Amino acid sequence: MDFELTSEQREIQELTREFAASEITPCASEWDRERLFPQEVFAKLASLGLMGVCVPEDVGGAGSDFLSYILVLEELSRADAGVGVTLAVHTSACTLPLLAFGTPEQVERYVPPLARGEALGAFALTEAGAGSDAGAIVSHGSESPAGWHLSGAKQWITNGSFADTFILFARTEPDVAGSRGISAFVVDADHVTVTREEHKLGLNSSSTVDLVFDTDVPANRLLGTRGQGFRIAMATLDGGRIGIGAQAVGIAQAAFDVACAYARERRAFGKAIGEFQAIQHKLATMATEIEAARLLVYRAAWLKQSGKPHTMEGAQAKLFASEVARRQTAEAIQVLGGYGYTKEAPVERYFRDAKVTEIYEGTSEIQRLVIARALLGQIGRDV
Ligand code: CAA
Repeated sequence: MDFELTSEQREIQELTREFAASEITPCASEWDRERLFPQEVFAKLASLGLMGVCVPEDVGGAGSDFLSYILVLEELSRADAGVGVTLAVHTSACTLPLLAFGTPEQVERYVPPLARGEALGAFALTEAGAGSDAGAIVSHGSESPAGWHLSGAKQWITNGSFADTFILFARTEPDVAGSRGISAFVVDADHVTVTREEHKLGLNSSSTVDLVFDTDVPANRLLGTRGQGFRIAMATLDGGRIGIGAQAVGIAQAAFDVACAYARERRAFGKAIGEFQAIQHKLATMATEIEAARLLVYRAAWLKQSGKPHTMEGAQAKLFASEVARRQTAEAIQVLGGYGYTKEAPVERYFRDAKVTEIYEGTSEIQRLVIARALLGQIGRDV
């Protein structure tokens, strides 16, 4: 067992940390307050090769491994979780499923612009009546003279207002109940219409939209085989959940950093509050839980890049890391006291941003379901 990062992984981590410290952290509060999507940041990430860090070089990526990508997500989310989720959805939920399930023609057409950051990706699965129950989608796909006619509406679509490429799921077999009647498509942005930008509790620098579509796409936009869509979605989320775990670790680490610095400086009863056992115990628990979450996330990433089963381990990593992030961002506010509850300190943003990691890419309740089914042998792992 080797817990050391490779020199390449450390370099990518350091590069991202320095970039985040200079280009993201100073602006994150403003982006949150003004609900600004920082488009220019993604152009800069592209120039560093970070929009396709784990994508092979021959299709436009940086050719690093999945753990390197996870380190990038952690560092970006430490600075701004909205930037983190934008990259997470772009990479894990759009570029990687295209690589895994696309035809050579689809890979050649779509992956290089995504990996180079010239295009932004999105993943359109969720609908008003299909959140946790993803197999209940009713968006419709039928064969048409042009290829496929796709019609329906989607909700909570991350990157929706800025994406160029969508992986979109529709029911193509109306007579087949549940998950087996769903197919996946790769669709250009001009085939969908954004109807509403969501007003969220946190992650205000990311875009989350409702969209509708009633459009014809060529036959060669079917991703994978007809009826395989749900399994493509699940396999995609297996990896995506590791990325959300990394996002949660990054947010929690940011909260810890602020709490620790404050504990050294803030004085009460004649000494720094970090000299009181009440605060020391909080910091000790925070650091221990964050490190445990990080190890679960890194292990799940290693399993994925080693080609090993990771459905359960990714769900465990996301479940634990997201609950740590929610708990420990609240503890950071507690360490800062009244100051932590104000907009003057960044910890209230971390607290708001952390909450969603328990919800998207599968709620904590769904992660427990996935874990329990795997433990009980009730679900195929990495089918
Ligand atoms: N990999 C591949 N295939 C899988 C799989 C996996 N991990 N898990 C299940 N499958 C396959 C099953 O083998 C089965 O295949 P067959 O039909 O061939 O037998 C099929 O999928 C159906 O499986 P289930 O019966 O287990 O399906 P279910 O209806 O009980 O649902 C669920 C399972 C885990 C609850 C699933 O619906 C789920 O994950 N729900 C949560 C949805 C979710 O995470 N949404 C996130 C939206 S995207 C997002 O949030 C991005 C963002 O913005 C940040």
